[in-house]
Amino acid sequence: MTSPAVAPAAPVVLETRSVSKSYYGVPAVIDLSMTVARGETLAIIGPNGAGKSTYFGLIAGEHATVGGGAILFNGVDITRWPAHRRAQAGMSRTFQVARLFASRSVIECLQIAAAAKRAGYRSLLRDFRRHASVDQADIERIMAGLGLAGLEDSLAGNLAQGDRKRLELAMAMVQRPSLLLLDEPTAGMSTEDCLLTVDTLKSIQRADPDLTIVMTGHDMDVLFAVARRIVLMAEGKQVMDGTPEEVGSSQIARKVYLGDEHV
Ligand SMILES: Nc1ncnc2c1ncn2[C@@H]1O[C@H](COP(=O)(O)OP(=O)(O)O)[C@@H](O)[C@H]1O
Ligand SMILES: [Mg+2]
Repeated sequence: MTSPAVAPAAPVVLETRSVSKSYYGVPAVIDLSMTVARGETLAIIGPNGAGKSTYFGLIAGEHATVGGGAILFNGVDITRWPAHRRAQAGMSRTFQVARLFASRSVIECLQIAAAAKRAGYRSLLRDFRRHASVDQADIERIMAGLGLAGLEDSLAGNLAQGDRKRLELAMAMVQRPSLLLLDEPTAGMSTEDCLLTVDTLKSIQRADPDLTIVMTGHDMDVLFAVARRIVLMAEGKQVMDGTPEEVGSSQIARKVYLGDEHV
């Protein structure tokens, strides 16, 4: 038997078909279609207001798509599923401005996040420990991997910006996602913290080659170091889809970023 010349394509984890969202009648995401394969790390880039965060909201279930759009997760139509059901199915996300439980300790935030995957956040906040058959070793391993060891008892609200973003990433990771959605994972970080985040994301990729990561951002150095595929968005639409080299050297990307010409 000879081995096949071409490796079989990885299964599609996420597919959006013509998803759209407007705010007060003003379109933010327009008929956006995309597929993401298992194990892929995709970065969605584009200037402020391009629709990146709104697109994440559509994928994660915070916004409903309007018109005839559809979202498939592992081949299942999840278009009408609420956010918590999508999380239970394996999607975890972080936000451009980290969403933490400011009055809880770091370890409590992680326990809440882990338990929330089962029960949903809303039902948990009063007595999350009752729900917590949380694997403590898992939490400690993730904390160590993300440079949070030693901060267990610190109040989340008192953390420095880099630690806040790392905690939010850890909260997503304790949910053992198959699809990790990171909205601007390095927003507001120092250069040193950005480099740390690049290392962390690379080690997350190495630890689980089946994990699919979709991230957004502006910082080309960070995104191009981690992602193997780049989608460029502008004005609610996809403008380019290619390798970091292709997008990085393209005239179109330059125009979109300089904003001196509509593409
Ligand atoms: N909650 C909101 N209410 C009204 N308009 C919004 C809201 N969120 C985003 N927008 C608008 O939608 C467009 C896309 O925004 P967003 O998805 O945040 O883009 P990006 O994440 O690429 O910066 C922008 O024009 C923005 O002003
Ligand atoms: Mg955004």
